[in-house]
Order: sequence, then structure tokens, then C-alpha cells
Amino acid sequence: MKAILYHEYGSPYVLKLENIEKPIPKDNEVLVKVKAIALNAKDWRLMRADPFLVRLTGTGLFKPKNPILGADIAGIIESVGKDVKSFKIGDEVFGDICETGHGGLAEYTCSTEEALAHKPSNATFEEAAALPLAAVSALQGLRDVGEIQSGQQVLINGASGGMGAFAVQIAKAFGAEVTAVCSTRNIDLVRSLGADHVIDYTKENFTRNGKSYDLILAVNGFHPISDYKKSLSPNGKYVMGGGSTKQIFQALLLGSFVSMGSNKKIAALSGKANQADLVTIKELVEAGKLKSVIDSTFDLEDTADAIRYMEEGHAKGKIIIKIEN
Ligand SMILES: NC(=O)c1ccc[n+]([C@@H]2O[C@H](COP(=O)([O-])OP(=O)(O)OC[C@H]3O[C@@H](n4cnc5c(N)ncnc54)[C@H](OP(=O)(O)O)[C@@H]3O)[C@@H](O)[C@H]2O)c1
Repeated sequence: MKAILYHEYGSPYVLKLENIEKPIPKDNEVLVKVKAIALNAKDWRLMRADPFLVRLTGTGLFKPKNPILGADIAGIIESVGKDVKSFKIGDEVFGDICETGHGGLAEYTCSTEEALAHKPSNATFEEAAALPLAAVSALQGLRDVGEIQSGQQVLINGASGGMGAFAVQIAKAFGAEVTAVCSTRNIDLVRSLGADHVIDYTKENFTRNGKSYDLILAVNGFHPISDYKKSLSPNGKYVMGGGSTKQIFQALLLGSFVSMGSNKKIAALSGKANQADLVTIKELVEAGKLKSVIDSTFDLEDTADAIRYMEEGHAKGKIIIKIEN
């Protein structure tokens, strides 16, 4: 089968198209014929081993242990291990296979059944592949860390990107009044996703406009934590989805310190793939409350170009690799 492999850490040049043996599923695994893969920041972080600490998390100290990247997949079950209960050959599935060691950028990959769910019936494979990490993280950031409530004023910073586009829609599904922060070219997009108010970050700094929010989810740091704190209502929460290593450590270590003397809370999101949340996302899609925004679609052999484009950080929604097998 064709797959994109990397045998050393580095820039997208390390990614090579190779012909390798089809994997064989273990007893508790399924073999998936992959139709589409969504790229995530995690993929370029693993490719570059950036930050360096990534190498100490079982990824491989000197070279990658799992030479195939790609965790968000959608495809068709090709065969099942003898202990698999919830899927059969021919089922259309989607999921986040990071716990199985990635391996999505290939014509076939193996996954445990817990990492997958049935694909939303009204989604294409590309739309389904866009969902697992980004939509589940948006859900966990708003529902579990942010404890979102209906009627709250919620601000999503980075609203037009992979996670942000889902966060706007999920916050609306929870009944919040949503302010989306994006650049001029994405205003129509975030309105179409249901945002009640839009702030163009190229013209206005929302941390200086005197307004306050019950919950702020920022997909990247973008501003200092202290600025976010100023924009929170008295019991408000700031959830940091991602950012530079320094920003993430600040949120984790200084979060409680920054919120001292007030009821404001600062937290960093650490999303965890799980089947129950995939099912929640599938149900939101099937109910017409959530749709994938796809920026662009690349062929498997053009994965390096797709990752270069992702690293620029200005995608409108998700970047997808499509496999015509
Ligand atoms: N913690 C977790 O569990 C978890 C899970 C998934 C992802 N993440 C993290 O989330 C982050 C974002 O992921 P993503 O896939 O959503 O990224 P993305 O698709 O690259 O989106 C980033 C968005 O940020 C916008 N942006 C750039 N500069 C901005 C600014 N100054 N103010 C406001 N918006 C700005 C861009 O819009 P314009 O083009 O308009 O500039 C773009 O739409 C990554 O750091 C990733 O590691 C974390």
C-alpha cells in the first residue's frame, strides 16, 4: 500500500511516499481502508519534534518510533480482529487513532474499536475526517473545562480555523451568545456558522474594548493571559486551546496565580480522544447543528505541501488529505 513515512525529524522534506506492507489488525483492532485524513498541529509538532520534549513522550528520542503520521481518519472497515464487537466489514467510520500510534497517512491503517465511531450519515468522508480532534477538543474545551451554560456570553478567538470553526457552532448549540474573533476575510464564514457578533482582530483588539465575557476559548494564545483576564466577567473562565510552549506553561503554572484575588479562572485544555464524544459530535452533525469547514483538499503524495500550508496558520477550517483508493 502507499503511505507517507518519515524516518527522521525535520521540515516537511522528511515526508516520503513509500510502498509498504498493509498492516494486519490485532484481535482487538479493525483494518480501515482510509478515504480521508485531516491534518492537525500535532502532526507538524511530531514531524519536527517541536517542542523537543515531544521526544520524551514515547515518540522516539533520536528518530520517530511510528513512522506514519495522521490521527484523524475516515474510511471503511476492511477487516476486523476476532475480539471486535461494535464494527463489521463495510462499516463507514471516523475517529482519532493517536492512541494506536497514528498511521493515518496511508491507504490502510489499524485502529482499536474504542478510537472510532460510525461516520455521520450526512457527512462525506472528508467532512467526517475533519471532525475527531478539532471538534472533540472544541467540545471538551467548552463543555468540560469551560462549563458552558446557555445564555452565557462566549468569545471564540481564532474562530475561523480548524478548532475555532467547530467551537463557534458548538457554543451556539449550547445556547450561548457567541462573539467570534477572526480576520476580515473570514467574517462572512464565521457569521454563516452562527456567530452573533464578529470582531475583526486586524481592526479591533477585543481585550481593550471594555466588553466582558463569561467564557473565552482561544485556539492559540494570541494575547497575554493578563489581557484575557481583563476581558472576563467576574466569574468568567479563559480556556487556552493551544499556543507556544511558553504560553501553555504559563497557563498551566500561572493560571491560578493570575486568577488570585478574583473568581476568574484560567485553564489550559488538554483534549482526550474518546468514543463517547465522537458519538456526541456525530449526533450534532446529524442534527444539522455542526458542519465541517474544509479549507482545502490535497492528494496523499502532496502531504508535504499540505503540512507547509498548515504551518502558515491561516487555514479556513480544516486541511484534508484525500485518498482515491
Ligand atoms: N489542547 C488541545 O487538546 C488541542 C486540540 C486541538 C488543537 N489544539 C491547538 O489549537 C491550536 C489551533 O489549532 P487549529 O487547528 O484551530 O489552528 P488553525 O486551523 O491554524 O487556526 C488558527 C486560526 O487562528 C487565526 N488567527 C491567527 N492569528 C490570529 C490572531 N492574532 N487573533 C485571532 N485569530 C488569529 C487564523 O485566522 P486568520 O487566517 O484569519 O488569521 C486561523 O483561522 C493549535 O495550537 C493546536 O495545537 C489543541
